[in-house]
Amino acid sequence: MSGRGLILGIETSCDETAAAVVERGTRTLSSVVASQIKTHARYGGVVPELASREHLRAIVPVMRAALEEAGIALGDLDAIAVTAGPGLAGALLVGITYAKALAAALTLPLIAVNHLEGHIHAVLLQSLPDGRSSFEEEAALALVVSGGHTHLYLARQEKGAWSYRLMGRTVDDAAGEAFDKVAKLLGFGYPGGPWIDALARYGNPQAVPFAFAQIKAKAHLAGKVPRTKAAKTTPIAGLDPRFMFSFSGIKTAVLRYVELHGLREEARARAARLFAPGAEARLPQSKEEALALCPQNVIDLVASFQCAVVGDLMKKSFAASESLGARRILVTGGVAANRELRGRFGAEAARRGVRVDFPTLAMSTDNAAMIAAAAWGRFLAGEFAKDSLSADPSMALGG
Ligand code: KG4
Ligand code: ZN
Repeated sequence: MSGRGLILGIETSCDETAAAVVERGTRTLSSVVASQIKTHARYGGVVPELASREHLRAIVPVMRAALEEAGIALGDLDAIAVTAGPGLAGALLVGITYAKALAAALTLPLIAVNHLEGHIHAVLLQSLPDGRSSFEEEAALALVVSGGHTHLYLARQEKGAWSYRLMGRTVDDAAGEAFDKVAKLLGFGYPGGPWIDALARYGNPQAVPFAFAQIKAKAHLAGKVPRTKAAKTTPIAGLDPRFMFSFSGIKTAVLRYVELHGLREEARARAARLFAPGAEARLPQSKEEALALCPQNVIDLVASFQCAVVGDLMKKSFAASESLGARRILVTGGVAANRELRGRFGAEAARRGVRVDFPTLAMSTDNAAMIAAAAWGRFLAGEFAKDSLSADPSMALGG
């Protein structure tokens, strides 16, 4: 123990094995992420059994690299923080078991962190310089938008402790899931978000008119059984329909368009090319490279899809911030890396005179610095995990 407030964060909830050292919840000394993208790419999504196996392989070297990069030894740590959920059960268990063993061997406290709270802290970590706590007593609207989640929270810090109130969420697919599914359907690589992002800038976003229907109150009556992984983490009763999302419709609309315009075969051929043994799938860097990958009508389709999704995320987030009186919006999670989303949220926030913050690109997707940062308040409050800590795949955040 160094007394410097050094927390080792461990994150294994999905397909990244990550470890990081953060000092006093604000200063990132290291953040190491081993991505499993290559393992899962050919399946167009994360294969849970493969994810657990890869975490087992990577966890020790990743943890060692995090200590080395931070220039510290195990004996300097003051606590271990680990993601307890939501996520894949087997994947979470690898991190939890390892963190428990490490904490026991070093006689350090163990702190369980909710992955979604981690994503929110990925922004706070960036926007709060050392030691400052300007968030105190100020409510912020947090949009967590990733491959597994599309959730709106009202986040508030009081006397150092953060609390979260769920205000809205998706009733079916997460936004990132829609990016991944549409990319797969069109024969692009995995994860799909970066492909769509890279292609969309060369397309006409008005080419295909996608529309989002207003979610009806009926769709989120108490007791309705959620059907998708994104819908499983929290109950949906009592939420304002204006702040609810649905992304399965637009995915089906893209599928219809593909069938109607005979784009299926061309997409199949592209996937076969991109995933051929030895092929190195590379994101297009210019209009020429985009056109070498797919025809202009596919680029226009991708641009229209992205424009519609970003528009819907914006509309509901700004409506929620206005209705709740939150002058500050935090946008986080993998989809927050999207270029169009950052540009349009930024412009709209400036127009309305509210503040919007994003994590850096590296901190948008899964990492462990956000887990160590989120653990700091718990460390100060002495809220430590019990010996019985286990994975909670559908762990909810806030009330
Ligand atoms: O936060 P994250 O790393 O993992 C989850 O907790 O889900 O988010 C991954 C998701 C994937 O669905 C991926 O396609 C999406 O974030 N994503 C993007 C971009 N980069 C990653 N979506 C849109 N545009 C991007 N640039
Ligand atoms: Zn995540």
